[in-house]
Amino acid sequence: MKFFIDTANLGQIKEAQDLGVLDGVTTNPSLMAKEGITGKENILKHYVDICEIVEGDVSAEVIATEYEAMIAEGEELAKLHDQIVVKVPMIKDGVKAIRYFSEKGIRTNCTLVFSAGQALLAAKAGATYVSPFIGRLDDISTDGLGLIEEIRLIYDNYGFETQILAASVRHTMHVLECAKIGADVMTGPLSSIEGLLKHPLTDIGLAKFLADYKKGN
Ligand code: E4P
Repeated sequence: MKFFIDTANLGQIKEAQDLGVLDGVTTNPSLMAKEGITGKENILKHYVDICEIVEGDVSAEVIATEYEAMIAEGEELAKLHDQIVVKVPMIKDGVKAIRYFSEKGIRTNCTLVFSAGQALLAAKAGATYVSPFIGRLDDISTDGLGLIEEIRLIYDNYGFETQILAASVRHTMHVLECAKIGADVMTGPLSSIEGLLKHPLTDIGLAKFLADYKKGN
């Protein structure tokens, strides 16, 4: 499973990259705003800065919601860096845009996916990644991980190559469950990745090893 970090914070991206397990970054307009990145030029520059830190794919989301404007914006984003994946919302014009980008060899991440039907449509249109938002489904008492299972089944039934990118991951158990189900990628905060490190028996065991070493040296 690939690990993406879901942030526009350069410090956190660098920290995750330095850990040596990072495969990419996802951003969205809210995450950019959270870092105070505003204005088109600054936003485009920020995407390039992210690409220079991380070695993998970097999702950059279009703001346009109409087909022609989405195409223009997506082509501009794709030209910024060869690591850029154009993030397109699951709306009618978005599906058409994904088909267009797919035919042009521009990679896409279909975002704001909340149902298996939407995921099927994204795969039919040729999306590189599909992003079901599991945390936001859990927030409304709907089974986010269950959606990942449904999409896995459908994609495997037909051999779709679209990668399931479990998004809106909130914690380490989401990461583990996604790995069990067979999500291709997960994107979450740094804490969801670092949580995988932790076990009290590791800390206790290490303390004992070091104490025993000190006794003999
Ligand atoms: C996906 O790419 C989105 O950026 C993201 O995962 C949304 O997560 P949230 O529900 O925590 O905002």
